[in-house]
Amino acid sequence: MFIFKTTNIHKLLILYVLVLFSCRIHPVDNEKYSITKYAQSNDGMVVSAHPLASNVGVDILKMGGNAVDAAIAVQFALAVVYPGAGNIGGGGFMVIQSQKGVSDCIDYREKAPLKATEKMYQDSNGIVIDSLSKFGALAAGVPGSVDGMVLAFEHYSQLKDWKALIQPAIDLANNGFPITENEANQLNSKQSDFKNNNRFITQFERAHWEKGDILVQKDLAHTLELIRDNGRDGFYSGEVAQAIVDEMQAMGGLISLEDMNSYHATQRTPITTQYKGYDIISMPPPSSGGICLVQLLRTIEPYPIHEMGFHSAESVHMMVEAERRVYADRSEHLGDPDYYKVPMKTLLSSEYNADRFKDFDRQKATKSQDVKPGIIEHEETTHVSIIDMDGNAVSLTTTLNGGYGSCTVVKGCGFLLNNEMDDFSVKPGVPNMFGLVGAEANKIEPSKRMLSSMTPTIVMKDGKIKMIVGTPGGSTIITSVFQVVVNVIDFGMDVSQAVQSPRFHHQWLPDTIYMEPNALSEETMQKLKDIGHNFSVKNQIGRVEAIVVDSSGIRHGAADKRGDDTVVGY
Ligand code: GLY
Repeated sequence: MFIFKTTNIHKLLILYVLVLFSCRIHPVDNEKYSITKYAQSNDGMVVSAHPLASNVGVDILKMGGNAVDAAIAVQFALAVVYPGAGNIGGGGFMVIQSQKGVSDCIDYREKAPLKATEKMYQDSNGIVIDSLSKFGALAAGVPGSVDGMVLAFEHYSQLKDWKALIQPAIDLANNGFPITENEANQLNSKQSDFKNNNRFITQFERAHWEKGDILVQKDLAHTLELIRDNGRDGFYSGEVAQAIVDEMQAMGGLISLEDMNSYHATQRTPITTQYKGYDIISMPPPSSGGICLVQLLRTIEPYPIHEMGFHSAESVHMMVEAERRVYADRSEHLGDPDYYKVPMKTLLSSEYNADRFKDFDRQKATKSQDVKPGIIEHEETTHVSIIDMDGNAVSLTTTLNGGYGSCTVVKGCGFLLNNEMDDFSVKPGVPNMFGLVGAEANKIEPSKRMLSSMTPTIVMKDGKIKMIVGTPGGSTIITSVFQVVVNVIDFGMDVSQAVQSPRFHHQWLPDTIYMEPNALSEETMQKLKDIGHNFSVKNQIGRVEAIVVDSSGIRHGAADKRGDDTVVGY
């Protein structure tokens, strides 16, 4: 009879097999890990970039939380399960529309550190040192996300249980979760950036990531516990604030304890306008999103776009020409309203936008070099759309700027710092990572917020929520939201068609129409080339999360097919 004798080698082998096996076993409920692109519900709904985060949001709604409670829980959960853009070391914007008619915006955008200077990314000859605003400690603005969530909680929570909103994120960080193929690819592509921008081996570093590997983040769990137990103080003072300052000192950044202690998120009045009988509610400066979206809608409103047809040469030409002019304005006139007088009234007026479009030629592309701003932005960001059973809505866009932000993890705290400083104009006319140029309005100043393109938007019809929409995508955020709104309102598409249809984009400079592969037919492209347009292919434009409410109150949610995005309703 064969007797199996346990030797040390056998024990080691058994241990190895157990470790391997346990790496594949995780406490994540598989049902909560199914990627769903369309859902319909009568009550609550959450659409986000990650199935686990969407489910965290829905769990909070089911516990009696409102849309804001769910948004707070999703923001923290995304910081764990979607570290490329979800964050506590970055910032964002939340647009809120209560069922009682209250509209509000929470601005938790990062700020330049107090020691920041206008020319901090230029050498002594005035030449921009490209990587400085994009990687490492010097690229980071003072993070706003935690204070934004505290502010939202204090003003709008229905659950009134801060700890319950953060605990799901803590559990995900402590227990770990299996990464998807997309996440494995993204992490693999950033290994040298993590190596180059950290003084220790971060949780994101591994010889090779594969789908199903478990990402455990104990340091991040600890930081989240401090925030859970101490609120704002758990991040902006004490252990975490000091660790950020230590990181800055070790890695050449500028954020001080004073920067941390004095950071405050703020409420801002939403940009509101009417478009063809719908009320559009979006984010004001320091985001350019709301103003530019309104400018685009105002500009095309007089034209019969529905008759022109979806993705016809005529409708694409008109939308591109509007985008060219609006992005020229963005470069000149938009910045942090606390530092620069943004000519909002003018920019939002029908007259101004009609005047800007008076040289629009239906038969000919304008050259961007002939378009000046009127007289008077590898992207990662992430969006969440939520509606609760009472009809309260939240449209939230949050970011670290580039994928995994500055790629610098705060030692001992497990979270990534943003590289949002690159959203400033580092030098007039020098393009940022999105090819966007800027000038005086968006120059670097101490404590100033950098201009954003994030466009969290809510559309109302007859006083009721019609649509909740937003997307990541750097400079393409505005034009992606623009297209989805037009797809629903003008082209009568359902939410899935509106979100999954291919997109295009023009941002004045460079003078080219960016287009997803096969977005336009050969015939349409030829017609557009004939009248002077150029094309560049961009593999992906935006990752839209949208909810549309129909006339009987049924919620239809669409999660963009361009990622692991998931809609969950109940
Ligand atoms: N960091 C991208 C944006 O705010 O526009």
